[in-house]
Amino acid sequence: MTTQQLPMSVPAPNLPARVRIHEVGARDGLQNEKATVPTEVKAEFIRRLADAGLTTIEATSFVHPKWVPQLADAEQLFPLVSELPVALPVLVPNDRGLERALALGATRVAVFASATESFAKANLNRTLDESLAVFEPVVARAKDEGAHVRGYVSMCFGDPWEGPVPVHQVVRVCTALRDMGCDELSLGDTIGVATPGHVLELLSALNEQGVPTDVIGVHFHDTYGQALANTYAALQHGVSTVDASAGGLGGCPFAKSATGNLATEDLVWMLRGLGIDTGVDLDRLIATSLWMADRLGRPSPSRTVRALSHEGPESRKEQ
Ligand code: HMG
Ligand code: MG
Repeated sequence: MTTQQLPMSVPAPNLPARVRIHEVGARDGLQNEKATVPTEVKAEFIRRLADAGLTTIEATSFVHPKWVPQLADAEQLFPLVSELPVALPVLVPNDRGLERALALGATRVAVFASATESFAKANLNRTLDESLAVFEPVVARAKDEGAHVRGYVSMCFGDPWEGPVPVHQVVRVCTALRDMGCDELSLGDTIGVATPGHVLELLSALNEQGVPTDVIGVHFHDTYGQALANTYAALQHGVSTVDASAGGLGGCPFAKSATGNLATEDLVWMLRGLGIDTGVDLDRLIATSLWMADRLGRPSPSRTVRALSHEGPESRKEQ
């Protein structure tokens, strides 16, 4: 990559010195793909992401294949990548999922709750309180086993069935997950309707209720082009964990209006411009997303991937 293709590094005030990218492409990105992606392709995707410098790579989900057929190969995939020198969190919807993950030696798991009743029903086949009751022993057992536990909360800003989601509703679910023992929270804007003021309001409300900023990650979808603006607002509030998906892959099979996650390349571009190091090699990451786009048979929606691959696709395409 030539210097003309990199943003000038100009720091801005009130931003964290480091940002940890929680890469979700192999799980959140792929779970929505209709055609089955071969297990070896998923493993190679994860290896290439690690090689590009990502240090937290969500690998898969131990759900019943009936719910997410694309991730039915979790048992086969995890051992193929478990020796990589990176953190490999996996999703567990219940005790059965946790059992399967622990049996393979997973040390980082994530439960996933909803801020709304409608999505709890659609995604977990439970009411919101029933789903929290399911998670309680799962988190307790995971902590007993020494695992790091992330608690996702979906629909933190809006819900396709219920519309705007009141902040106090999100705070209730977040504090419940913290009280159970979750080490980290991830605030999901599953359908991409958040705007920066709303993000700041939610973060402040969480702080007021005793949830410190350093346990909060943000998980934005770019449906309305707001993901980077929302990320910037969260960074200014002090958030330093940001979820993103290589190439902007993603969506949610249980929320039809969900589109791609914030693309990791777009995030790395902005952070690089702000002088915030992520350890990610943008060239290698773009090559990985182009490689994956070839496997999926359609171009990446990431602006940065498109802009930079336009400059020199041949140098970045790896076979
Ligand atoms: P259910 O059908 O009510 O489950 O689904 P159940 O407990 O009644 O079990 C039914 C059968 O499934 C039983 O088998 C269980 O043993 C089996 P049977 O006795 O009938 O033979 N079973 C399992 N088998 C293997 N692994 C398991 C498992 N669990 C049950 N883990 C359930 C309830 C919660 C299980 C279901 O609704 C579910 O798995 N939902 C998960 C859906 C999902 O993965 N969604 C996508 C992830 S969330 C997301 O994308 C949002 C996020 O990205 C952030 C954002 O963007 O907002 C995180
Ligand atoms: Mg998501």
